[in-house]
Amino acid sequence: MTPIHLAMIIAVLNQKGGVGKTTLSVNLAAALALAGQRTLLIDADPQGSALDWQAARQTESLFPVVGMAKPTLHKDVPALAADYHQVVIDGPPRVNELAKSAILAAERIVIPVQPSPYDVWAADEIVQLIQEVALYKENLRCAFAITRKIGNTAIGRDVVEALKHYPFPVAAATLGQRVVFAESAARGLAVLEVQPHGPAAREIQALARELLEM
Ligand SMILES: Nc1ncnc2c1ncn2[C@@H]1O[C@H](COP(=O)(O)OP(=O)(O)O)[C@@H](O)[C@H]1O
Ligand SMILES: [Mg+2]
Repeated sequence: MTPIHLAMIIAVLNQKGGVGKTTLSVNLAAALALAGQRTLLIDADPQGSALDWQAARQTESLFPVVGMAKPTLHKDVPALAADYHQVVIDGPPRVNELAKSAILAAERIVIPVQPSPYDVWAADEIVQLIQEVALYKENLRCAFAITRKIGNTAIGRDVVEALKHYPFPVAAATLGQRVVFAESAARGLAVLEVQPHGPAAREIQALARELLEM
């Protein structure tokens, strides 16, 4: 029997490495936890970067991080989710059974893309996989999120335009290229803990709000 759960399950997915999945996942989970939501972060990347992030902390965690890089994720997550309001899944850097399982588990999928044509082209793979796997999932909502954006550049605008060829919307909230994302990660912290009123914190909060309202 499938346990009843009320948690919102948000997967951060893109088979391309280095696009900012883990950065977005830990900061999104922190934003939700700091907003008073009981939050769980699932590390579904065999590399375990989110687990590494948490291990680097000197202070008590804002939320638990569990490693679960298994293609049975969609079967295991509902039982885990029962104790939480929000579950964030940091996705794997491959198009494989594990990625499929994360898609099946999710109600929201956010696909981080950098403002680069390579990222736009590479997004084709994850979009296809989502369409294949989630064809009949009525309550699934997907969106792109621009990450590592450098100012208000032409390439930034071009990428948003190019992403319109895909069937998912581009979130209005974007994450800038900001050193605080890397610096905070090195200490196992979220940007909201290091610079609670800084621009990175505002960006993450805006994206979190947008995802929940989708
Ligand atoms: N918005 C950002 N600003 C600055 N650096 C970033 C940003 N997002 C990610 N990074 C850095 O880019 C690298 C890759 O990010 P990561 O989140 O690990 O990507 P992925 O999980 O998709 O492989 C890391 O060194 C991270 O600190
Ligand atoms: Mg990662």
